[in-house]
Amino acid sequence: MKHLLKLMDLSTNEINEILNLADQLKYEKKHGIEHHLLKGKTLGMIFLKSSTRTRVSFEVGMYDLGGTALFLSSNDIQLGRGEPVKDTARVLSGYLDGIMIRTFKQSDVETLAEYGNIPIINGLTDYCHPCQVLADLMTIREIKGSIKGNKFCYIGDGNNMANSLIVGGIKMGMSVSIGCPDSHQPDPEIMKWASENGDFKCTSDIYEAAKDADVLYTDVWASMGQESEAERRKKIFAGYQINDSVMAVAKPDAIVLHCLPAHREEEITAKVFEEHAKEIFEEAENRLHAQKAVLVKLLKD
Ligand code: CP
Ligand code: NVA
Repeated sequence: MKHLLKLMDLSTNEINEILNLADQLKYEKKHGIEHHLLKGKTLGMIFLKSSTRTRVSFEVGMYDLGGTALFLSSNDIQLGRGEPVKDTARVLSGYLDGIMIRTFKQSDVETLAEYGNIPIINGLTDYCHPCQVLADLMTIREIKGSIKGNKFCYIGDGNNMANSLIVGGIKMGMSVSIGCPDSHQPDPEIMKWASENGDFKCTSDIYEAAKDADVLYTDVWASMGQESEAERRKKIFAGYQINDSVMAVAKPDAIVLHCLPAHREEEITAKVFEEHAKEIFEEAENRLHAQKAVLVKLLKD
């Protein structure tokens, strides 16, 4: 594993290794056991979009591992004024040990990896969000005891989260169903791959999608960069909400996850959100542990 550009690049074995290391690092952190595995290493964190969890968890993660992180907002670096990604990659490769980037185009992440000679981590693009899904898988395993065999249901926009959840879910042996409008389905190539490699369904009927689910998941109706479409999207996604009637068709012990930030009474009711807040905030915490595992796998000598 040289980079984390998308989950499709990882084998089931590599995902399991990351999750095992994440569990160990979480245990050590909770018990005050120091793990300075990346002493003297520096991670650059390029952001072209906002972030709370990704920014803070990567920064704290590098600190916990004995290294340093630099926050590089696109407002402050020349990339934001048009310096090419391929030049930025070659310049930063001379200073840093790794780069985490949050941007719009998946091709920017791929270009960084092509032109740089240090590990690149995708901290979210319009196409996918692999770091979030590693934390999600860790959370499912922690709460349910195992990942394989669970029915995983995602309701809402077929966006970056849906794309990565399908890949992660299928690679880890879950049955994956997506409930979304026909007009906003996940990436067609990912859906084709999922159908050929596991138990996958995409339907506009959210009750069919959620039936007997062990894990329910949702995300915002308008992602970063789609702010101008927010009102139009509210109409399109009005029926695609996790609420009591959806919970009623899932398994009685179903858990609910959300990558956050959440918009209450849009993709999820405030009631369901608060009833499952323990799971959702454990999931948010697990970003830290899962990403530290990724950093160790990619940056450790
Ligand atoms: N879930 C997630 O990536 O959160 P941020 O946008 O706050 O980083
Ligand atoms: N789909 C959301 C995820 C945020 C973590 C977005 O891209 O804004």
